[in-house]
Amino acid sequence: MANAYLDVGIQSRMNRIINPKDNRVVMLAVDHPYFQGPTTGLRNMSATIKTLLPYCDCLMTTRGAVRSNIAREDLGSKPIMLRVSGGNSVLFDELSDEQITVSMEEAIRMDVAGVAVSVFIGSANQQQTILNLTDTINCAEEYGIPVLAVTAVGKNMARDLRYLGLASRICQDAGARIIKTYYCEEFSKLVDWVAPTAVVVAGGKYSSPPDALQMAYDSVQAGAAGVDFGRNIFQDENPVGMIKAIGAIVHGNHTVKEALDVYKACMPGAKKLE
Ligand code: R5P
Repeated sequence: MANAYLDVGIQSRMNRIINPKDNRVVMLAVDHPYFQGPTTGLRNMSATIKTLLPYCDCLMTTRGAVRSNIAREDLGSKPIMLRVSGGNSVLFDELSDEQITVSMEEAIRMDVAGVAVSVFIGSANQQQTILNLTDTINCAEEYGIPVLAVTAVGKNMARDLRYLGLASRICQDAGARIIKTYYCEEFSKLVDWVAPTAVVVAGGKYSSPPDALQMAYDSVQAGAAGVDFGRNIFQDENPVGMIKAIGAIVHGNHTVKEALDVYKACMPGAKKLE
């Protein structure tokens, strides 16, 4: 029988990330500059984080963003999911050539709730990125820190159940506590294949409020623990309305129509983020 005592640190941090009352999470992804530089909506990162932080459960971001863009009084007790893999940029076609960029000691010093590593399954650097994940899990679990695996998708890979299911299952077998992947048809099968590991859904490129909210709704209906959206929130003309509407779906079990009403109610005075 597993010694539950050994998992107290992991469990405590998991409870900070995923609300134990409903096992759901609205994670806000603002880690894009680690390979995209000054991303639209994140050019004034401090303002974006300050505006949206109150409405997310957990902030997925980078060491530099925490250091440079978040005032301690704004952060409060909001949990950080710290990206610890990187080493590439959009100027280079092959994005999969990542390594670990932040030490576990630094993550502990920052009191993060979890650390995130990308894996690029099927890419030229598949093995390297899977080993980035397993090495991080070996180290992070020693300190009771859960690891979130990001199933990054290369340009030429299909975002279908076959691919995303394979990538997600590899992450689960590696020992990831949370898997971040993309929504696809028959998504509930993917969730079943990795159960009981929590799944959060990435938003992808900016689409539209109805489409993004539909994806959030379909994801949680299929069994996802929630979403880890970025651009569909911070690039929307009504970013606060968008994150509140997502929260209404994830935690309030709102329909897409009800969530759109939440979105519209925030429209007066809405301000686009730089
Ligand atoms: C990608 O590797 C990053 O983790 C992004 O944060 C992620 O793709 C989620 O952001 P978005 O919803 O903008 O796709």
